[in-house]
Amino acid sequence: MKIRKHRLLLICSVGICVVSLLYCYKTLQQDTFHLSVHQSGIKSLFLRGFFWGDSLSIVLVGHNNILSNRISHQKEVIRKGASDGQVSDLVMPDPTGPHGDIHKRQYILQDDLTPYFLSTEAGVLCFREGTEMAEDTVDKAGQRLILEHHKKNNTVLDDRLNKTGKKAAKCTCRTGWHGPNCGVPTVVQHSNLRTKSHLSPRKVPRRIINAININHEFDLLHTRFHELADTVDLFLVCESNFTAYGNSKPLRFLQLLLNGTFSYIEHKILYIFLDHFPNGGRADGWIADDYLRTFLTKNGLSRVQGLRQDDVFVLDDADEIPLREGLLFLKLYDGWTEPFGIHMRKSLYGFFWRQLGTLDVLSGCTVAMLLTVYKGDGILLRRRDYYNMPGFRQYKKTSGHVLIPWSIGNPVHYAGWHCSWCFKPEGIYYKLISAQNGDFPRWGDFPEKRNLTYIKELIRTGGWFDDSDPSYPPSDPKEHMYAPKYLLENFEKYRYLLENPYAKR
Ligand SMILES: *[C@@H]1O[C@H](CO)[C@@H](O)[C@H](O)[C@H]1NC(C)=O
Ligand SMILES: *[C@@H]1O[C@H](CO)[C@@H](O)[C@H](O)[C@H]1NC(C)=O
Ligand SMILES: *[C@@H]1O[C@H](CO)[C@@H](O)[C@H](O)[C@H]1NC(C)=O
Ligand SMILES: *[C@@H]1O[C@H](CO)[C@@H](O)[C@H](O)[C@H]1NC(C)=O
Ligand SMILES: *[C@@H]1O[C@H](CO)[C@@H](O)[C@H](O)[C@H]1NC(C)=O
Repeated sequence: MKIRKHRLLLICSVGICVVSLLYCYKTLQQDTFHLSVHQSGIKSLFLRGFFWGDSLSIVLVGHNNILSNRISHQKEVIRKGASDGQVSDLVMPDPTGPHGDIHKRQYILQDDLTPYFLSTEAGVLCFREGTEMAEDTVDKAGQRLILEHHKKNNTVLDDRLNKTGKKAAKCTCRTGWHGPNCGVPTVVQHSNLRTKSHLSPRKVPRRIINAININHEFDLLHTRFHELADTVDLFLVCESNFTAYGNSKPLRFLQLLLNGTFSYIEHKILYIFLDHFPNGGRADGWIADDYLRTFLTKNGLSRVQGLRQDDVFVLDDADEIPLREGLLFLKLYDGWTEPFGIHMRKSLYGFFWRQLGTLDVLSGCTVAMLLTVYKGDGILLRRRDYYNMPGFRQYKKTSGHVLIPWSIGNPVHYAGWHCSWCFKPEGIYYKLISAQNGDFPRWGDFPEKRNLTYIKELIRTGGWFDDSDPSYPPSDPKEHMYAPKYLLENFEKYRYLLENPYAKR
């Protein structure tokens, strides 16, 4: 009781601190429920949200003529860029054919009906995957799992007689799972989430929407899809026919999507096509960089039907892969605060050059927060100053949510992987020449840095383009969280990412 009181006091004082900080920070700005988004480049995209009423649904009205005029009624040949010699031209699908509207299709979100929890005889919900089931029995018909705690059969019996018997019956957690329902993974248990004691399993899972921009990170894309296939409900994948530098580039992801390379996951993919380059993007590469996320989020969300305010939006770079268990927790539980980040293991060129510490990227929030606070613009989510944004107070007030950022994982419990420049040498070359104009020095501008022999040497030594001395802690493919499971399970195929290909043995 005492501890609980103290905790309550602590939470209250933290709350008061945050509130008073806010008053100092900004003048209140009235915000209506009606969000009009006008963005240069996107002519008219209206996101109209009806929040907090008795209806749960957010209606997104998309005036979606963004792309339609440009890619209408005729085949278009995507020109070959000056810089990407080897790749073949790609013809956009015939607009009258079955794939012609692939970049305009709507996606209808469905509820995930997977029975993630099962009920003990005493009526306690246990998360299946996290619960010790050595003594479970599948009945002969194979229909129903019955959880039996033989060791505690007396208490179970008591509880059955005793309707309030919450105390006695409980789930026995497997290693790596925590909490009364065994659904809290270690990366949350050991995170800085302050509301850990107020978590509760949801009746209906949230839907998880994972948005990414793709260039040529296809091995990491397969890795993401395999890691998250059963957890993420929808992947928004955006591809542009411009490089971040502003040159033309072929739609290689579209090509793979259409030829069946992603058939195992394509029912969860919404293809987003960015067919223009933002004004000023060539002079200031950061504009181009930001715009990719803005377009991805706005175009993507405008094409999703059935979004709910409590669905989760996660924005990643293609080389940032969240651990499945972390996102699954967000999907299945209520009571966490937002926005949330993810502590990712950092490595370079492959998983073999591990860097110290973690990369903690602010990655997601609920759809309601995305629309109200961030105005449906994913790039704003990445910035950490959401409390300065006009919709913040409104959202905090109407939602009653605790808006304290936290991060899944911690510096020693990785909740994902950030694998930088994880390509074969040719892929690194391609990334160099397509890099945006703003992240200086722009190594792609130096011929000697684009030399494949030089690039291989960097991979071998873990060096960087500035020729600084690399220093890495040793890493071993057998260590926990070395690389995503899919890669380790297909070691031969992805050996170049898992073992230094140029190290002398
Ligand atoms: C369960 O209860 C019965 C009767 O009370 C007892 O005979 C049996 O040994 C118990 N089983 C276990 C595994 O404790
Ligand atoms: C009911 O459960 C409570 C708390 O677990 C316990 O104290 C009480 O003795 C139980 N009553 C019966 C009839 O089992
Ligand atoms: C990108 O596609 C759009 C629409 O098809 C086209 O108008 C534009 O010229 C293309 N850009 C490049 C660089 O190929
Ligand atoms: C799809 O195209 C890619 C690249 O051209 C090729 O490597 C792959 O084998 C193709 N896949 C299928 C299933 O045709
Ligand atoms: C790349 O560097 C190697 C070694 O420095 C050199 O022999 C080779 O000619 C260079 N290749 C090109 C294309 O410049």
